Amino acid sequence: MKSHIQSLLEQTVATLKQQGVIPADAAPRIQVDRTKDKSHGDLATNLAMMLTKAAGKPPRVLAQLIIDHLPASEHVAKVEIAGPGFINFFIDDNALAKQLQQALKDPTLGVTRPAAQTIVVDYSSPNLAKEMHVGHLRSTIIGDAVVRALEFLGHKVIRQNHVGDWGTQFGMLLAYMEELRAAQGDENSIELSDLESFYRAAKIRFDESEDFATRARHLVVELQSGDEYCNKLWREFNEISLTHCHNVYKRLGVSLTRADVRGESAYNDDLPQVVNDLDAQGLLSESNGAKVVFQQEFHNKDGEPLPVIIQKADGGYLYATTDLAAMRYRSSALKADRVLYFVDLRQALHFQQVFSLARSAGFVRPEMSLEHMGFGTMNGEDGRPFKTRTGGVVKLVDLLDEAHDRALELVRSKNPDMDDATLEQIAAVVGVASVKYADLSKNRASDYIFSFDQMLSFEGNTAPYLLYAYTRVAGIFKKADDIDLSGASMQLEHDKEKALGNKLAQFGEVLARMVDKGQPHLLCGYLYELAGAFSSFYEACPVLAADNDSQRNSRLLLAKLTARTLKQGLALLGIETLERM
Ligand code: ARG
Repeated sequence: MKSHIQSLLEQTVATLKQQGVIPADAAPRIQVDRTKDKSHGDLATNLAMMLTKAAGKPPRVLAQLIIDHLPASEHVAKVEIAGPGFINFFIDDNALAKQLQQALKDPTLGVTRPAAQTIVVDYSSPNLAKEMHVGHLRSTIIGDAVVRALEFLGHKVIRQNHVGDWGTQFGMLLAYMEELRAAQGDENSIELSDLESFYRAAKIRFDESEDFATRARHLVVELQSGDEYCNKLWREFNEISLTHCHNVYKRLGVSLTRADVRGESAYNDDLPQVVNDLDAQGLLSESNGAKVVFQQEFHNKDGEPLPVIIQKADGGYLYATTDLAAMRYRSSALKADRVLYFVDLRQALHFQQVFSLARSAGFVRPEMSLEHMGFGTMNGEDGRPFKTRTGGVVKLVDLLDEAHDRALELVRSKNPDMDDATLEQIAAVVGVASVKYADLSKNRASDYIFSFDQMLSFEGNTAPYLLYAYTRVAGIFKKADDIDLSGASMQLEHDKEKALGNKLAQFGEVLARMVDKGQPHLLCGYLYELAGAFSSFYEACPVLAADNDSQRNSRLLLAKLTARTLKQGLALLGIETLERM
């Protein structure tokens, strides 16, 4: 509906330009917003105020001219001028009902698809040296929700799991792998099932033994020079680590596959070229033997310039070098229109620096947009970064186990007579959904407090609340299974029907904003409001006990579209629905 009003206004602006009311070169950004107060209609625009200067007319006069030239539309029941010159649109209920009925027939629920773009989404991207921990949760699930919504809107999405599979830590890990094998005397018996302890043990060896450390450093050099033995060890290690990651993805219901992995090492061959190209453009400086780039706009608190380090004095490359190569690849080989990076906000400066450098070096097409979708920290209930009781990092697997156990307890308490197998099934969905939803429902840019009690509550904007709301809507159809709705028509008469209908019609607008801003909490908030609108409707408007068949069928259509929108919305968040819980 928003885009419909927008296009009516675009046509009006064109007409007013032809008539010379607005100068031909005026290019106003036409903004249409949902109103907060229904007495101001459903949608409003400040267009007249935006154009008042260019047109040399008072805003209210201009607003009237806009209204006079607005093309007729069955969707608009009434248009009014308000306040200093806002234009308020009242949506026609019959046209809305027709539109919703149309949406029911459409596999994408009547959502208008924008012009399709190619969008690279860099998300999850853990370091393979260690096991996935809670620090990777946010990137993985926020990124995945945005990916799903982008695909639903018809974009071509290229997932890039930019895993950290290269760098000095690998020397240490390979040296330790070698040592264990020698001790066990068996090539294949290496135990890497617990990567976290493996990493810790390797680090201890590295710190305690000079010989070990020397061997580790030597292995890095060998690895980098392409030595076959080292590369084989390295591939084996990464294989095991990636298998861990994909087990976690599977459990979390995350859509990343092995084909989406393009780690740091994939750019190795291009790194010398990155250095050459920067050099050829005169961008490189030397600092203590290292090759660096100084960019004017970056300096620290004391005004000293902050360089991007491209190559260390010992010849090693850095995180930034790889990111430059990755951007070039995403621009020229993948032909991305947008590249979205779901990475911790603490890396904000890194991204500002490499984005700006990639642009000045001409590594990316000027029209390609680079967007760091940064996120805050997941804190424990004490407000400090989430840790185990003993202060260690929390492994994702352990977190999901605990969520599952708590969900099982919760579902059992609600359904004391349910059999174990069913309880297990429901708990598996509720546990994962709660962890994901708690994260997705927060503005990603802020820190949030991870609380099992809060995320497993049936009250408020939580997964259990929404999953339960869905079972209630879907439950209506268990009792109405045999009612033929093929000839039914939707009528919006009661206020609560209108309010629900209005909410349903906003699904597409919400998705558009969610993918534009990379903010899944906008979709969560919408689904929560939709569930609330349904609840109010259901309380005020009997469905199966309606006054007559046509009213009952109309309400069933509303319920059906609500069920489908909730289910689809949750699916876009990567959350499965249940038929009962
Ligand atoms: N591996 C990095 C980390 O764990 C995240 C990589 C994000 N993506 C990127 N292109 N830099 O912090």
